[in-house]
Amino acid sequence: MVTGGAAGIGEAIVVRLVEEGARVAIADIDGERAHGLAERLGGQGEKTLAGRVDVSVLPEVADFVERAVRTFGRLDGIVNNAGVAVPGSAENISEADWDRVMSVNLKGVWAGMKYAIPHLRAAGGGSIVNMSSVQGLVGFPGWAGYAATKGAILSLTQQAAVEYGPEHIRVNCIAPGTIMTPMNQRIFETAPDPQGLIASWNSSHALHRFGESSEVAAATAFLLSDDASFVTGSCLRVDGGLTVLGPSGEAS
Ligand SMILES: NC(=O)c1ccc[n+]([C@@H]2O[C@H](COP(=O)([O-])OP(=O)(O)OC[C@H]3O[C@@H](n4cnc5c(N)ncnc54)[C@H](O)[C@@H]3O)[C@@H](O)[C@H]2O)c1
Repeated sequence: MVTGGAAGIGEAIVVRLVEEGARVAIADIDGERAHGLAERLGGQGEKTLAGRVDVSVLPEVADFVERAVRTFGRLDGIVNNAGVAVPGSAENISEADWDRVMSVNLKGVWAGMKYAIPHLRAAGGGSIVNMSSVQGLVGFPGWAGYAATKGAILSLTQQAAVEYGPEHIRVNCIAPGTIMTPMNQRIFETAPDPQGLIASWNSSHALHRFGESSEVAAATAFLLSDDASFVTGSCLRVDGGLTVLGPSGEAS
């Protein structure tokens, strides 16, 4: 199951997993787009199952997990990817924005874990991948609430890895750098100087470019697979070297 699977990084993950032969349940608040993707990839109930799910509403997550298990017979993994980018510094973010980013990004990840874990246990084990961000590891001005959710996702991942490791349930997270998705397109469209912002974000990565959604999907497929059988509690940085880049300029 992939939450936020209808667009951006989530869509690339769904495509990659279907290519790898998995049957994938696509949960997204944009039900129409999720259904369109499911149809494109081989039809509902065969390779895919789409549902309109708001990850911040627990009964919707619970119902869709049950539907996925009824349709496919079992659950081997969940990718808790749905998230929203809500800007605002600690002093400026409104209470409504704070509550919204917490409820989608953090409560949504917890909800996916809560309802998936019993089925992963029933399957004899499984893999959970939670979508954190470089913003959970280092600070960026203007993103207090968003960063707090991404740091908390890392802590929740580590805690659950310890708690469920004995039951063969692996729990990892991914910290993407800047990936060109609808989320970032919206940020660039509303920036006063989009080209300047793109250039500065490009140069903040050691690889001097943004990442592709398919590159995050490849890392996710690895963490879900048996190739990662001894990997749990980790945070895989798929960030083009953003978090290891020091000050620019060469030593003289
Ligand atoms: N794009 C980046 O540069 C970047 C970097 C680091 C981390 N991330 C994280 O990766 C994840 C995906 O980001 P993206 O850039 O693909 O975003 P996106 O906005 O392009 O796509 C997000 C998807 O999630 C869905 N969604 C939003 N709210 C939802 C809800 N309440 N319930 C269910 N689905 C919901 C949207 O409909 C959409 O299909 C997010 O958690 C984001 O924080 C993105």
